[in-house]
Amino acid sequence: MSGKMEYVTCTAPVNIAVIKYWGKRDEKLVLPMNSSVSVTLSQDQLRAKTTIAACKTFSNDKIWLNGREESFDNPRIQNLLHEVKCRARIQNGSDLDQLLSWKIHICSENNFPTAAGLASSAAGYACLAFTLAQLYKVTGDVSDIARRGSGSACRSVYGGFVVWNKGENIDGTDSIARQILPHTHWSDLHILILVVSDQKKHTGSSEGMQKTVQTSELYKQRVKCVPERTDDIIDAIKNKDFDKFAEITMKDSNQLHAVCLDTYPPISYLTDTSRDIMTLVHRYNTFKAQNKVAYTFDAGPNACLYLNEADVPGVISIIEYFFPPTSQSQHFIT
Ligand code: PMV
Repeated sequence: MSGKMEYVTCTAPVNIAVIKYWGKRDEKLVLPMNSSVSVTLSQDQLRAKTTIAACKTFSNDKIWLNGREESFDNPRIQNLLHEVKCRARIQNGSDLDQLLSWKIHICSENNFPTAAGLASSAAGYACLAFTLAQLYKVTGDVSDIARRGSGSACRSVYGGFVVWNKGENIDGTDSIARQILPHTHWSDLHILILVVSDQKKHTGSSEGMQKTVQTSELYKQRVKCVPERTDDIIDAIKNKDFDKFAEITMKDSNQLHAVCLDTYPPISYLTDTSRDIMTLVHRYNTFKAQNKVAYTFDAGPNACLYLNEADVPGVISIIEYFFPPTSQSQHFIT
């Protein structure tokens, strides 16, 4: 490495959890109370794209998100950068001393609304961890590095069906993501994202989960039942059992929003439109006499619907009938 500037660009897709991560047992290391399971979208859909340049002449570290400069003092970014640099030193000895001493400029953009409960932080931090790892020639699993930015980001490091094992170790070394199966295993499975609102969420997920862990009685029950659910949904994925997959996905989303409501003061991410979508999905499934569509909601009002390819046209026409498209509404099909 002798040039005056080094730069790398990478992309990372959004992932949509079917067993939700909600609650940390260690805030600093970002260790979750329970394991979680998700599906990573394809690279050409909703994704973050990050370019990082390191240059001898840069006087400060800087970051731009969607064209706006943000503070580099953000503890999540600092935490993640610290970890990746430590690993670079361990893996590369003194070879990278010069590069590691240079300041960096980070430029990241999403091709979808940021912070509206569409897992933008997952894609963003996975992309940041992966791009930094490329820049500093770090090899091996980087999911635990991404986790330090935002827990759910560790799952976006892998494609297809992914589990984030909560791990047991106090230092978090086993709290990592791994692929259960590639996307090709169940390529019929699609995700339809209904953007109910692209406004920034009122309670960030970190703050929300902290309050839930501190105040919700119901949450204690959730932590007990998630391990069995996790095993069951992994079986449903392996067997491509949509009916079971859908039931577990919807129950887990409902439980997440129930523990949010049980938080004191309560947190409410869903809107009337979100609840109308839930009702419509249950009516559709009842009419079809089995689960054909599953909804899931993260920390926001936007619905993610899982469904098989054969049901996509019918479901889209019903959605458009009951929720006529407006200039605000949008849907993405992946
Ligand atoms: O990774 P965070 O801190 O943005 O938390 C994400 C939490 C949920 O999106 C609600 C659930 C999940 O597992 O993605």
